[in-house]
Amino acid sequence: RAPVRYEAEDAAISRGVVQSDHPGFTGRGFVDYENAPGGHVEFTVGRETAGTVPLVLRYANGTGSDRPLDLAVNGRTVTAGMPFGPTGSWTDWRTATVSVPLGRGTSTVRLTARGTGGGPNLDSLTT
Ligand code: GCU
Repeated sequence: RAPVRYEAEDAAISRGVVQSDHPGFTGRGFVDYENAPGGHVEFTVGRETAGTVPLVLRYANGTGSDRPLDLAVNGRTVTAGMPFGPTGSWTDWRTATVSVPLGRGTSTVRLTARGTGGGPNLDSLTT
């Protein structure tokens, strides 16, 4: 199966805004989380078969500090404090990958900011 890319700007966003002021993103832009804990981006992903699959998250973090996110599938936290470390600048985009079990059909994948800085700038999820 070919990987599918889901754009963060098309996901369900809470306490974040779609921006396009730092080039290098795919699609129309990226999500800039509020600089506070609790904001989230929630993707709805579809699978034809159940299985453990890699989720590739593309992001930028122009600060010198980690911007960890909690990753929940269908409301259940599967990875707390997944690191999204400094990428060098807001125009340097990198990927972070985590493998999670997904059931057949659609699942929600929610990434919630934990720290006072909020999340990184999030471009996409590919799986
Ligand atoms: C800067 C940057 C934003 C980023 C923000 C942050 O304002 O331009 O794209 O989201 O820092 O610290 O989160």
